[in-house]
Amino acid sequence: MAASRLRVLVTGGAGFIGSALIRRLIAATEHQILNVDKLTYAATWGSVASVADHPRYGFARIDICDAAKIAEIFRVFDPDVIVNLAAESHVDRSIDAPGDFVRTNVIGAYTLLEAALGHYRGLPSARQDKFRFHHVSTDEVFGSLGATGYFRETTPYNPRSPYSASKAASDHFAQAWRHTYGLPVLLTNCSNNYGPFQFPEKLIPLTIVKALSGKTLPVYGTGDNIRDWLFVEDHAEALQLVFETGNPGESYTIGGSAERTNLTVVETICAVLDRLRPRGDGRRYREQIGFVTDRPGHDRRYAIDASKIKAELGWSPRHDFETGIEKTIGWYLANEAWWRPLIERDKAGERLGLTAR
Ligand SMILES: NC(=O)c1ccc[n+]([C@@H]2O[C@H](COP(=O)([O-])OP(=O)(O)OC[C@H]3O[C@@H](n4cnc5c(N)ncnc54)[C@H](O)[C@@H]3O)[C@@H](O)[C@H]2O)c1
Repeated sequence: MAASRLRVLVTGGAGFIGSALIRRLIAATEHQILNVDKLTYAATWGSVASVADHPRYGFARIDICDAAKIAEIFRVFDPDVIVNLAAESHVDRSIDAPGDFVRTNVIGAYTLLEAALGHYRGLPSARQDKFRFHHVSTDEVFGSLGATGYFRETTPYNPRSPYSASKAASDHFAQAWRHTYGLPVLLTNCSNNYGPFQFPEKLIPLTIVKALSGKTLPVYGTGDNIRDWLFVEDHAEALQLVFETGNPGESYTIGGSAERTNLTVVETICAVLDRLRPRGDGRRYREQIGFVTDRPGHDRRYAIDASKIKAELGWSPRHDFETGIEKTIGWYLANEAWWRPLIERDKAGERLGLTAR
């Protein structure tokens, strides 16, 4: 597909990954971007402030479940590509309030697919050839691995949390719209992301802001759950590559080949902070670590085999975990004005996911 100048509708673009994608697309392409976001608690203006006045950027505050407004957006913006990142994304919140996840992640994705199909059918064939619906998903849909093995595109789905079940459902709807109606769908399933502008409820930013606030650094269970970490800018590059050059109907698993236990991640953050911003009292940040009751149904290990996207599209991550975490911690140290109001406003970082349901 010619990637010269596309009209790209990004949903969830005021969130963590969506904003990284938009910042990249404005800086590195000629694409025209429309960011459609409901602005939930997870959205921040700061994440898109650097592009807000750019002539190739637009924003519309819309709920992706609102079929009439979404249809209108397709009419007015007339996209070549839609990248769906709008979602409820925090596993602990999905344990406490699964209904929000079913609504946005499943009904919202269905609403977008229907609008995209109507739009696609009305396009002339030359534009149909380049139209893409890119649904962004997670490796969590595959369930949990033992000590060995990897998730890849052919791994059967086995979601185990309300979050991953809702994402799995939306993946199936996206694939069904491809097979049943011929919509040119692309699907990506990525491992855990980290980097600038991540809401301080997820492990890495939560650990950084709690460390700097002198609070306990909560580690679930014994901290031996394993995740494969990817720096968000590398994910954004992969997403761009997939919707510009990926084959419609294909799915791609994306990961950083950076498996770490949660405890190792927290200890690494502590060690970097000891160097970059030593505590005033001469003690080490790791002394703030505290082990807390595990998340119910906590998946044991995720790991990605990203050889397909590497071989077919030429993608590989530019950051290893050490360079990515150093950049991330440096960013949080320099941007307290972004995260401090969030933790005060939303009590982010308080223990979620323990509701007795
Ligand atoms: N964060 C990760 O590690 C990770 C890894 C793999 C895949 N993903 C997937 O990537 C996508 C983005 O994740 P993220 O971490 O950036 O999430 P996020 O929570 O930071 O951002 C989600 C964005 O979606 C918006 N949104 C939520 N509900 C909406 C609705 N009904 N209508 C319109 N907008 C709505 C929010 O306002 C927010 O800006 C999600 O689909 C997630 O499942 C995330």
